[in-house]
Amino acid sequence: MSNKTVKGITNIGQWVTWNPVQSTMEVGEGGTWLIENGQFSDYSPKSFSDPEFLDGQGQLLTPGLIDSHTHPAFAATRELEFEMRSQGKTYQEIAEAGGGIRNSVRKLREISESELANLVETRLSLMLRHGTTTAECKSGYGLSTEAEIKSLRAIRTASKKTHLQTFSTLLGAHEIPDEYRNERDTYIDLVINDMIPAVAEQNLAQYCDVFCEEGVYTAEETEKILLAARDHGMQLKFHADEFVSSGGAELAAKLGALSADHLMAISDAGISALAGSDTVATLLPGTTFFLGSNTWAPARKLLDAGVTVALATDFNPGSNMSLSMPFVMTLAVIYLHLTPLEALQAATLGAAKSMGIEKTTGSISPGYRADAVLWQSKNYKQLPYFYGSNQVYQIMVGGKPVL
Ligand code: NIG
Ligand code: FE
Repeated sequence: MSNKTVKGITNIGQWVTWNPVQSTMEVGEGGTWLIENGQFSDYSPKSFSDPEFLDGQGQLLTPGLIDSHTHPAFAATRELEFEMRSQGKTYQEIAEAGGGIRNSVRKLREISESELANLVETRLSLMLRHGTTTAECKSGYGLSTEAEIKSLRAIRTASKKTHLQTFSTLLGAHEIPDEYRNERDTYIDLVINDMIPAVAEQNLAQYCDVFCEEGVYTAEETEKILLAARDHGMQLKFHADEFVSSGGAELAAKLGALSADHLMAISDAGISALAGSDTVATLLPGTTFFLGSNTWAPARKLLDAGVTVALATDFNPGSNMSLSMPFVMTLAVIYLHLTPLEALQAATLGAAKSMGIEKTTGSISPGYRADAVLWQSKNYKQLPYFYGSNQVYQIMVGGKPVL
């Protein structure tokens, strides 16, 4: 990590960003974005031929993408389950038979914290190479206080070794672990009275999340857990209405959660509840795609109702083994019917808002972190259009080119 800070990015082609002053997306052409103290400071229509500037070579510049929903702390991949799905088994059938999340839990408990940190570091580096400069990272494959803390510490260690800015989420209520299958209330008490206080005391997670879904955690259980997390200073996130509408979006709005995520099965009442709140709808079309489903989240209905929409990968070994935000943008354009500009807004401003960091991250504007990507593209419409190969040309984090 020997990269040096530059004075700006010059000779830019097209640049596209959320403009926080005008509250709209802005598309500019040419010139230079100046950088001071790791932040964008000003725009100049001139270009500079000075080696202390990064030469944009006339390429497209966007803010660094923000992946606001990832599960990178897993020990082993699950390609056998992928193969089983190709033979007709569903994700839920595999989970009920003891595969799925519980399969990952058994494997994570067997490896050391440093082995896990190395795996997470590799994954974060790959995210960065695909244009993600900020990521939210969940635990959730430990499901004991000890193994959840191991996961969150591994995320922290890995994050320090990469250029990515990360924020951590405790997902101790991702499933009911094998040893508590017949006493779920005992496990929920453990999450509330042991796991959350321990994680808060060590300051290991900014957010707490629960998999609120039929067959996993009910809305009542989710509320109990998240109220405890809020009492310990964590902000709230939700896995809500992924397969069945179980009131998750409504509860997220009621509790003032930062985001409700998935929402493939959100009801009209859920959409109205989000519209009447500040909770962001985080859509994960990579998961719908990877599960071979054709039930896409109702993105247009959410946007028409005035809900802020974010896009994220949901990178995880079971339901979406891809960490490419540009691919997610492609899916969003095709299946969620977002325009390329809406997709870029959702992958930057929307995602930043879903993490509570929209005043510092996700925009090429004075005072924002100088996190940006130069793409081998002429304009932002090419970004989701030319899919399946990596168009990243250069990445800047905090004013430093890092590739
Ligand atoms: O976001 N929905 C819950 N958790 C993950 C799946 C995790 C897994 O299968 O390992 C998700 O889709
Ligand atoms: Fe998830």
